[in-house]
Amino acid sequence: MPDFVGAVDQGTSSTRFMIFDHAGREVGRHQLEHEQILPRAGWVEHDPAEIWQRTTTVIETALREAGLRASDLAALGITNQRETAVVWDRHTGRPYYNAIVWQDTRTDRIAAALDRDGRGDVIRRTAGLPPATYFSAGKVQWILENVDGVRAAAERGDALFGNTDSWLVWHLTGGPDGGRHVTDVTNASRTMLMNLETLDWDDELLGFFGIPRRMLPQIRPSSDPGGYGATRASGPLGGEVPITGALGDQQAATVGQVCFAVGEAKNTYGTGNFMLLNTGTELVRSEHGLLTTVCYQLGDAAPVYALEGSIAVTGAAVQWLRDQMHVIDTAAQSEELAATVPDTGGVCFVPAFSGLFAPYWRSDARGAVVGLSRFTTDAHLARATLEAICYQSRDVVEAMAQDSGVTLDVLKVDGGVTANDLCMQIQADVLGVAVSRPVVAETTALGAAYAAGLAVGFWKSTDELRENWSESQRWQPQWSAQQREDGYRRWKKAVQRTLDWVD
Ligand code: G3P
Repeated sequence: MPDFVGAVDQGTSSTRFMIFDHAGREVGRHQLEHEQILPRAGWVEHDPAEIWQRTTTVIETALREAGLRASDLAALGITNQRETAVVWDRHTGRPYYNAIVWQDTRTDRIAAALDRDGRGDVIRRTAGLPPATYFSAGKVQWILENVDGVRAAAERGDALFGNTDSWLVWHLTGGPDGGRHVTDVTNASRTMLMNLETLDWDDELLGFFGIPRRMLPQIRPSSDPGGYGATRASGPLGGEVPITGALGDQQAATVGQVCFAVGEAKNTYGTGNFMLLNTGTELVRSEHGLLTTVCYQLGDAAPVYALEGSIAVTGAAVQWLRDQMHVIDTAAQSEELAATVPDTGGVCFVPAFSGLFAPYWRSDARGAVVGLSRFTTDAHLARATLEAICYQSRDVVEAMAQDSGVTLDVLKVDGGVTANDLCMQIQADVLGVAVSRPVVAETTALGAAYAAGLAVGFWKSTDELRENWSESQRWQPQWSAQQREDGYRRWKKAVQRTLDWVD
């Protein structure tokens, strides 16, 4: 058995390839950004051809720099930005349109219509998701309705749909020359088209969006020895490596954080925040604004489900302070500046730039800064931005406790913003729960590698993976209970302002 496992992490802003050893340690990586195409307010696109190009380069470069070859890899895992929709021609590999990204809100009318005639409730029950612009189905419908020739091609069976996992697996396994058109259950559970109980595409849901079944990839387990095929020697790996793991990036991070027991949760802090709570083989339907989603499926075992709280804007609010408000020059400076004041001076910032996701699901909400006085400085605004990241996560934790009855003893965190010590301290204070960051912060790629490695026996069991996890830092709550509840009450009042804003 070769000594390493590789993983492609195709994210919203960049694509990386990472190589891990048996202890889950990183032995190689390369990463490249791709363009964010913003044709109009609310529209966000990626060029799928550029994403495939970047993927080939990061694989070739990481292998070369690590001095490794395809034959050193026991398996390959794929993880990806979820929901983002690509539609392409199976004969030429040409996309019919740019990928429409999860953050894109052009389908708000499609989404709003679903709740006017009862289809929304069917989607909630069958797919576990509230009708929203976030998910893939409306994006595919938009392409079918707005790009010449796509509907006819889809009906003929020439047009294929996939999230970026499907797009990459199809290319890696041969493209027009016999490439596999597959996806995994976790990605499929984000489309609004999969039945959460049967784990198959649902004809009623397909009918809601007018999507022909022939466009859709075959759904496979997240860890699967045979379903995804192998890379072609003519591709970027230069050899045949079995692709045996695939899962959406937030589910992959949950696996990378070894949240294999019911009640274990992780929170990933990136552009947005995504908290997933493992609910086991039981499908817990949210009544408090969370998503019910597939967490992972390992081989023939029953699928494991999760409750998810998705937040659209967290780290992106720090970028806004930097790029639009010019309050800071680097994201890291948000910590320095916020640390110069003991509190926000009464300021509350709700960065509802793309409406509010969980638990509110209000696409019409817009951001607000409230509590300003002559005393307010840029430092107060910076501190309020960090608090906003943490209070949005508290909203999600509250919803999770109500839906599942689980109260957290400790919150496992990962992602770029977790390098911000002050923000993590505020998170512990706002929640009244300890916050814990692991040594391997790249939990997303690691989770995809774990899924792939489990399928080929590189790792024998999830217990073995648990031994690879260790903590690098822990933050304990310091606020009094009174301080915590006063702060949260103010936050809820500020959120209400953003919901009331639109006429
Ligand atoms: O649901 C969207 C999520 O999968 C995006 O994650 O890390 O690519 O921004 P990321």
